[in-house]
Amino acid sequence: MEELKGVRTLILNESDPAILRERVRRYFHQTFTIDEKLYESIARDEGFYLRADALRHPLVFYLGHTAVFYINKLKIARIVSQRINPAYESMFAIGVDEMSWDDLNEAHYNWPSIPEVKAYRNEVRAIVDKLISDLPLDEKGINWDSPWWAIIMGIEHQRIHLETSSVLIRQLPISEVQQLDFWDYCHSTGAAPENQLLDVPGGEVNLGKTTNDPLYGWDNEYGHTRFEIKDFKASRYLVSNAEFYRFVEAGGYESQEFWTEEGWAWKTFQGCRYPRFWQKNSEGAWLLRTMASLIPLPWNHPVEVNYLEAKAFCNWLAAKTVKAIRLPSEAQWYRLRDLCVKSDQPYWEKAPGNINLEYYASACPVNEFCFGAFYDVIGNVWQWTETQFTGFPGFAVHPYYDDFSVPTFDTRHNLIKGGSFISTGNEALRNSRYAFRRHFYQHAGFRYVESDEPNAAETNTVLPGL
Ligand SMILES: [Fe+2]
Repeated sequence: MEELKGVRTLILNESDPAILRERVRRYFHQTFTIDEKLYESIARDEGFYLRADALRHPLVFYLGHTAVFYINKLKIARIVSQRINPAYESMFAIGVDEMSWDDLNEAHYNWPSIPEVKAYRNEVRAIVDKLISDLPLDEKGINWDSPWWAIIMGIEHQRIHLETSSVLIRQLPISEVQQLDFWDYCHSTGAAPENQLLDVPGGEVNLGKTTNDPLYGWDNEYGHTRFEIKDFKASRYLVSNAEFYRFVEAGGYESQEFWTEEGWAWKTFQGCRYPRFWQKNSEGAWLLRTMASLIPLPWNHPVEVNYLEAKAFCNWLAAKTVKAIRLPSEAQWYRLRDLCVKSDQPYWEKAPGNINLEYYASACPVNEFCFGAFYDVIGNVWQWTETQFTGFPGFAVHPYYDDFSVPTFDTRHNLIKGGSFISTGNEALRNSRYAFRRHFYQHAGFRYVESDEPNAAETNTVLPGL
């Protein structure tokens, strides 16, 4: 079988057009194939129509969505003139971006059958493959202004949904999924190490890239800003299930004083008393739901929570230790990354952490991948930050996708950094920036910091006119 794991994003300034063309073709098919492999985890077609998350579309939407995206973007780029199936290209175009946790998606959709959607996917695959053969390409390679950008955008978009669909599959009833060897989870488990705060020397952090950058980027990554970061401390490990359990055991979910107003409202609405993927069986033993299995809770794996829970934990720990504990800002995260990680995904020999599907299809122990004194500086699970999402000075939307980032520059989305075990393509790069609503679940956890820096670092520069 073609290599599907550990695939690298493309270096787009390759000067030999014939080589670059074949690399795009390979990357495209690797992406399409692994996307289909993910959906094999759903045991029967009926599972595609269940709403894994009450706030999201069922998975049939995402099966169609990643394919229609190519056609819709190629049309905007004027590379194709004909639609294949206008009804699909409308029905599967727009996801749900609910504003709140009680904004249930109750609209009725007349979804087609799974074989019909798969047949459509095959048509799109053939059209894009032919375009990769036929589109003119010169020795300048592919950049932001090139029509080829629409094809790369389609591929990278599909890779984002590889991750987000894996989270939705994780939320399907266990009876609707099957554990495939290809998506096996990390079986290594044990006692969690004691966490501790370690010094991070301050310094300058430069964020943002130029349109000459040889790696694909989403609009929000471009522009430039710099920060002068003061010394701070950061936890050696991501917060493990064991460390988070102390908060649960101490009544953290019942103690309003540790939660933000938003967090308490969410928690009260949900009625939750512990993280979403934890379960307790009838004998009182703790279990963890992975994408397709239910396993004894691995105490030394990172906890996976949303921002609101991570924030409450930090407030609890701050009160307990009388220290200025909080989540890092985006810039503090970069300071740690720049000190500890010297490579980036397309250039590394082997991933330095549990990322890019190079090791496991799940999280792994928080003390498995070291980066000097720290662990999991990148990879394993995403890390929530205090920083609310905005663009950098110099931000501009890409004309092929003008609503990718701007609707989320609303102070309601916080950045997650570092990538997870299933972050691939652009998601696994230093410069990538993704943000989610604070109550959202991804494969995300957190590292805490001790910092006197005021939370002005919570937001980046506000854009003029936004
Ligand atoms: Fe999408």
